[in-house]
Amino acid sequence: MVVSMKGKDLVAIHDLSVEEVRQILKTTEILKLRCRSGERDQPLAGKTLGMIFSKPSTRTRVSFEVAIYQLGGYALYLGANDLQLGRGETIGDTGRVLSRYLDGLMIRTFSHQDVIDLAAAASVPVINGLTDLLHPCQGLTDVYTVYEKLGRLEGVKLVYVGDGNNVAHSLMNGGAKTGMHVVVCTPPGNQPDPKVFEGAKRDALETGARIELTHDLREAVSGADVIYTDTWTSMGQEAQREQKIKELAPYQVNQALMKATGKPGTIFMHCLPAHRGEEVTDEVIDSRASVVLDQAENRLHTQKAILALVM
Ligand code: CP
Ligand code: NVA
Repeated sequence: MVVSMKGKDLVAIHDLSVEEVRQILKTTEILKLRCRSGERDQPLAGKTLGMIFSKPSTRTRVSFEVAIYQLGGYALYLGANDLQLGRGETIGDTGRVLSRYLDGLMIRTFSHQDVIDLAAAASVPVINGLTDLLHPCQGLTDVYTVYEKLGRLEGVKLVYVGDGNNVAHSLMNGGAKTGMHVVVCTPPGNQPDPKVFEGAKRDALETGARIELTHDLREAVSGADVIYTDTWTSMGQEAQREQKIKELAPYQVNQALMKATGKPGTIFMHCLPAHRGEEVTDEVIDSRASVVLDQAENRLHTQKAILALVM
């Protein structure tokens, strides 16, 4: 079934229907194939995407900018501190004004509420490029990458190990919409947001997904098809770095943990940037099991799909 997503915001994967998630994954697959064969459709010719950044970025910025260019459109990088937003203009006024110039907005910021408010004020689609709470473009890319690598999603056991925040949340949401078995394994005090967990559990009822939380690392990774981790010090949490390292150190993804899955073909994923020697060892991230570069590349194809569908 083809569902129209034109004009839709992407604030959270949880807000999308199961069909919409499927459509993004299918479109990603098609656009990646066409990109690889040198065929470039330009459905967004003449369209402009504004990209507001309050935090740094390598992958999100470059992949969005290249994505819209390849689709025939144009991207504007808007550093939050270069906008009047940095001097107190409200997010609502910013959204209403920018909607008069642009055909779409992408925003990376701290407060998730700011993205909700921007989406409410803007008359063009708003795409969440990461908040402290969620990273939906990453979550959709990750689900696509699992599908690409393993050829299926239903029942695939993905174990997220580490800090239970934005990336873990969007993986729970993405897994719940696609029938996966997602286990989020964190030290006590670092578990995911209970509201996000409850939302993912509700979505799982529709798809047969399993979403679980645990502190028990060995039990969690047993039988894992995918081991996933993220930095222990997310952007904006620099002051808590020493404490996070202390709490999360036993949850490092190393060769011993990869072996503890008991499966020969377990793949390793990471949204990047990685803090090598902290959440993951060089041995694992540089191993044959690691798909992190394909995962990073897939940000481009997934975002092309999102842009083409909503803009
Ligand atoms: N994974 C990701 O979002 O990377 P950037 O912070 O470099 O955009
Ligand atoms: N959790 C990380 C993800 C970076 C892509 C952060 O928020 O910094």
